[in-house]
Amino acid sequence: MTTKLVLAADKLRNDPRIEAAKKLLLDAVAEHQETLVSVRPPNPELSVDYEKLLEEFGSLRGANIFFPYLGSGIGNGPFVELGDGSVKLDMITGIGVHGYGHSHPMLIEAGINAAISDTVMQGNLQQNTNSCDIARLLTQTACESGADLKHCFLSTSGAMANENSLKMAFQKNHPANRVVAFSHCFAGRTLGLAQVTDKAKYRVGLPDTISVDYIPFFNHENPERSTAYAVRRLKYHIARFPGKHAALWMELVQGEGGYYEGDSNYFKALIEVAKENNIAVIADEVQTFCRTTRPFAFQHFGLDKLVDLVTIGKISQVCATLFTDDYAPKPGLISQTFTGSTWAMFAAHAIVSGLIENGNFGESGLNVQLHRHFADGLKGISEKHPGSIAGPYGVGGMVAFTPFDGSAEIAKEMVNRLYDAGLMSFMAGGEPSRVRFLMPLGCVKDSHIDLACQIIENVIVEMKDQLSDKSAEVAEN
Ligand SMILES: Cc1ncc(COP(=O)(O)O)c(C=O)c1O
Repeated sequence: MTTKLVLAADKLRNDPRIEAAKKLLLDAVAEHQETLVSVRPPNPELSVDYEKLLEEFGSLRGANIFFPYLGSGIGNGPFVELGDGSVKLDMITGIGVHGYGHSHPMLIEAGINAAISDTVMQGNLQQNTNSCDIARLLTQTACESGADLKHCFLSTSGAMANENSLKMAFQKNHPANRVVAFSHCFAGRTLGLAQVTDKAKYRVGLPDTISVDYIPFFNHENPERSTAYAVRRLKYHIARFPGKHAALWMELVQGEGGYYEGDSNYFKALIEVAKENNIAVIADEVQTFCRTTRPFAFQHFGLDKLVDLVTIGKISQVCATLFTDDYAPKPGLISQTFTGSTWAMFAAHAIVSGLIENGNFGESGLNVQLHRHFADGLKGISEKHPGSIAGPYGVGGMVAFTPFDGSAEIAKEMVNRLYDAGLMSFMAGGEPSRVRFLMPLGCVKDSHIDLACQIIENVIVEMKDQLSDKSAEVAEN
């Protein structure tokens, strides 16, 4: 059956010239990607200009960027070319954003579809049909095993999605004005979320906004005791401020906090207390979305019927707050000029449905297989070089290890050395500090993970030698 093309937009999208242009563009990108198949060092001819650019950018933004990274604008899967001619193996993906790596044809096509759309951005008064498409996909996916998250409000950052969820929880549970959150959680960097985020450094000089009480996170070494203790602390806070808690803020796998995985029974025990006290259950899935055995981590932990609000971001490009009928905001509470760029809308749909269709989810889906392969590689290194790394930690598309003594300095040094050797990672946690990876789950292969492990091992050997030289020096003095 051929569909009748009534709309000018449909006729445009189906115009053979668009198809031909897409093919030309994709072929051109593919041709130029061909050389980007492994890591390579900077090109010395480009380094002077590149250094100048980095300096200028640092000055323009008022602070240097963490890595001397300025992408050239092309990549090939997990490989990315930088402006200095180097190629990096990107296993951190903008802290979880580039789930299909760099210059993926599916996302270039999404970009072309966006480029021939009428507006760059979508939001409040004017959204296109693809806003509805992504909202539908997200709510249907969220509700597929029993959740009642029928609604979805789109936004442009994880922090906005989180702010919106808190506003809905406060409004519904007014006059409750406190939040309970896990120790070491990270929720974002707005004035409100800087209070929820359990890191003093991130709120230096900021006014107090939300009052937050913390409960300890799950401890795998002591499941029952840690669960009972967290429940006791939750009850303690509730008894101390009766009727004052609007939300239980849950990061189901702690990301920034150090890649600590929670536990179903632990969450359920806390949620039971929250429900008894009319406290909204919010799952912050900005980092975990699409990285566990299910699209949502609340599904991975079997909390479908228990969550009231869920936020997503990063890999989805478009961020969102999903919520039940009970938490629907009153008119005026939530609105935004920008809910997302048109490219982000097209890309979000392609990424989420792509990962589902690609077999990333399930108990033995790709996310699990990739994790296992990376974990095996890291275990191999740890056996070969005792004392060099501990772990691995994390779940699915989140992988981390603790390097050497786990100090912040060593973790930072390792991340920088890995970068220089061609592998992109980042730090997580505090005590201990870890090195973490957020793999591009839509395109990463075992061979890329093997290359990452090879680079990690080389850097470990280098650092081991230097650390033992240093301790020998200390002993001599
Ligand atoms: C768990 C979690 N929540 C919220 C955020 C904030 O998201 P964004 O940086 O998009 O505002 C992040 C970002 O790292 C996160 O990991």
